[in-house]
Amino acid sequence: MEIVWGQINKKFNGSVELYKRARELFPYGTQLFSRRPELYALGQAPIYFERAKHGHFWDVDGNEFIDTCMGIGPVTLGYCYEPIDAAAKAQIDKGVIGTVNNELEIQVADLMVEMVLCAEMIKFCKSGGGADAIAVRIARGYTGKDVVLFCGYHGWHDWYISANLKSESTLNEHLMPGISTKGVPSALVRTCIPFQYNNLDSLRDTLKRFEGKVACIIMEATRFKHPDEGYLEGVRQLADEHKCVLIFDEVVTGFRQALGGAQQYYGVTPDLATFGKGIANGYPLAAVAGKKEIMASQYDNFISSTYYSDTVSLAAGLATLNELKTKPVIETMKRTGKKITAGLQELIEKHKIKAGINGHSNHFVMAFDYGEQTNKVSTLFTQEMVARGVYCSGMFYICYTHTQQDVEKILAAADETFGILSKGIEQEQIDELLKAPVRQLGFKRLV
Ligand SMILES: Cc1ncc(COP(=O)(O)O)c(C=O)c1O
Repeated sequence: MEIVWGQINKKFNGSVELYKRARELFPYGTQLFSRRPELYALGQAPIYFERAKHGHFWDVDGNEFIDTCMGIGPVTLGYCYEPIDAAAKAQIDKGVIGTVNNELEIQVADLMVEMVLCAEMIKFCKSGGGADAIAVRIARGYTGKDVVLFCGYHGWHDWYISANLKSESTLNEHLMPGISTKGVPSALVRTCIPFQYNNLDSLRDTLKRFEGKVACIIMEATRFKHPDEGYLEGVRQLADEHKCVLIFDEVVTGFRQALGGAQQYYGVTPDLATFGKGIANGYPLAAVAGKKEIMASQYDNFISSTYYSDTVSLAAGLATLNELKTKPVIETMKRTGKKITAGLQELIEKHKIKAGINGHSNHFVMAFDYGEQTNKVSTLFTQEMVARGVYCSGMFYICYTHTQQDVEKILAAADETFGILSKGIEQEQIDELLKAPVRQLGFKRLV
């Protein structure tokens, strides 16, 4: 597929050249959907970083940015956060992997058991989607049933994408429109069924439709909305009544919303939970945690991989969890996030911008609402924030080392940017102001 460029800012020439080469080497040029530059302000924003420190990164052209998205979520402490990298480097000198096992596995698992309510046994892996696939396999093995009921985003594996086999729009409200089922076995049709967030009747009805066949309910306990009072308790009760495994996908909420994740924050304990982004400050470590009886069903269930226990990620994980336990990381992230949301809200009102902020204090999204013009306005927002040294698409993952100065710079950039947007909208000049092509659509998640 051809790249459709708008104007290319010379400041990003190095990034642009690398991306042209990448498009020849990788389908759509990148390994993670959310790193596709077409989703932001193509040609007017960095595409490749060279180095990063705390809440900032430097691109391959030497430009510095405050980062509001922190590796798309996993970097909770900040880039190159010293105690974590020191632990990882020390472990490199001792050996990155072994023929036999390493005690770090036990140390990290012990900490997770201490911090996470549902955690009695742990299985490590390398990605959030991988953890979800493992949890679903365990639940199917444990119950001897096939059907999975889901709400939210859970990765790219066959079990999940098969939801679109019956209708190509099933995943629209949980992932995004237009997800093809190419390569997913058609035999999986009607094995993965959605239910609506904050709607117990939707779950109750779906459980009834598939009576006796449901292995598990997998859901994000929250994304950008809090659960209604009693909702998660109701889900827990329905899972028990129907003898199916309740899995919370805590890939985003884990070690971010509270030390023990959303299950601690909302006081509802699932049977299994999956973790990814928050465990190791960006080192590739993910995990399934859960009740012993269910996790032990793995004795009859082959789930195994060479790199699931590499020692560098485990050393980083151990150091990260210790840092989270002993320092006011989560409170600080939330305080910083609150300053940003309050400041943005004030600026939205000052400039009479049609935008809303949804989510939690340390992970939220600011979304514009200009009907058919929305994507143009969002692209212009990113273009102008980047021009002021802030890499921002409207998605915010706050980290522990975002400073007061960072907050002030983000808000100063937003003040100027909203001024430009407001004038452009009033004078119907968005097209003239836009140097990048209109961004393509990214994830759409309603929960
Ligand atoms: C809730 C949730 N589950 C699963 C995943 C997939 O995680 P990964 O990209 O590490 O496979 C994500 C990624 O954003 C996520 O947000």
